[in-house]
Amino acid sequence: MGIDQVRWGVVATGNISTQFTRDLAELDDAVATAVASRSLDSAHKFADTFGIEHRYDDYRQLIESGTVDVLYIGTPHPQHYGIARAALQAGVAVLCEKPVTLTARQARDLVAVAREHNTLFAEAMWMRTNPVVQAMFADLAKGVIGEPMEALADFGFHKPQLPARLLDPALGGGALMDGGIYPMTFVHMALGRPDEVKAVGALTDDGVDLNVAMAWRYDSGAVAALTCGLRSQNPWTASVSGPEGSLLLPNRFHHPEYYVRSTAAGQERVDVAVHGLGYHYEAAEVMRALRAGQIECPALPHAATIEILELLDETRRQIGVSYPGDDEYLGG
Ligand SMILES: NC(=O)c1ccc[n+]([C@@H]2O[C@H](COP(=O)([O-])OP(=O)(O)OC[C@H]3O[C@@H](n4cnc5c(N)ncnc54)[C@H](OP(=O)(O)O)[C@@H]3O)[C@@H](O)[C@H]2O)c1
Repeated sequence: MGIDQVRWGVVATGNISTQFTRDLAELDDAVATAVASRSLDSAHKFADTFGIEHRYDDYRQLIESGTVDVLYIGTPHPQHYGIARAALQAGVAVLCEKPVTLTARQARDLVAVAREHNTLFAEAMWMRTNPVVQAMFADLAKGVIGEPMEALADFGFHKPQLPARLLDPALGGGALMDGGIYPMTFVHMALGRPDEVKAVGALTDDGVDLNVAMAWRYDSGAVAALTCGLRSQNPWTASVSGPEGSLLLPNRFHHPEYYVRSTAAGQERVDVAVHGLGYHYEAAEVMRALRAGQIECPALPHAATIEILELLDETRRQIGVSYPGDDEYLGG
């Protein structure tokens, strides 16, 4: 694809859309050309902040406008599916926030629509494209700790005032879908898909999970412990270990500045240069795939997105968290 500057459209003007669009400025070959919000006022405000030309109060108008090559979707999770599907059907590439859908079935459908319309589709699991995370996993692949046998990963924080979205079942609330997806992704990257999953969770009266603990077992003998929560200031770290040592991503492990390698040679802090907040790395991967005419971004693979949503489906089933529309989209 002979694109000098890839034109990005942004759907939603909330927290993550703001961070993502700020980071997009790190890329000379990217430009935000359009934004859609539920309110034209918000669209104007956002567009004025980032110098965006086209503003809409309906995401469908943005998709049909012909002003963008790729759409970034930063709405709450339940809205992802419909917006992504509409864009893919119109042949507009999609980078959609995590979790890309509420269920694996919906994600499989989006991959099918992407294939049918020969259009790129990717989940914005930015951790996968972080240079520190990539360097740590390159070490793991080199065998510096031997065969990985255990992983520990935790994503938990507490804020006096949690965003309402996180406690609202209608907005896909809960610790698991928002934060738990990171430990799950880390362990899936480290050990692959587990052969057995067990989970317990503490829920609000509205049925939203505040804390979740998961145990994964592998036929190889490997095991993993994963936690996520909205009630405590957790270590927020992730590690993988084997007979020769361990690799650890420190606090806020999903966008770290270094990792720690512990082997017989000693303990070493490994620094890797990162700049910006780190969202531009996923954007750059998407643009690379777009220019190569790919419908799947190698760094953000469809199969992993679907497998993790299958694990999220099963975990939600075990801890008793359901969302409106689950009946239609779970299973199958
Ligand atoms: N990658 C990351 O680091 C990261 C971090 C945080 C969140 N996320 C993901 O990003 C998504 C959004 O999270 P956020 O923290 O940005 O949420 P947020 O601050 O609440 O923003 C969400 C935006 O979505 C739009 N929206 C559309 N339909 C909505 C509805 N029914 N109710 C509320 N808002 C609606 C709103 O923008 P308009 O008013 O302009 O329509 C709203 O500002 C989630 O899926 C979350 O998992 C990712």
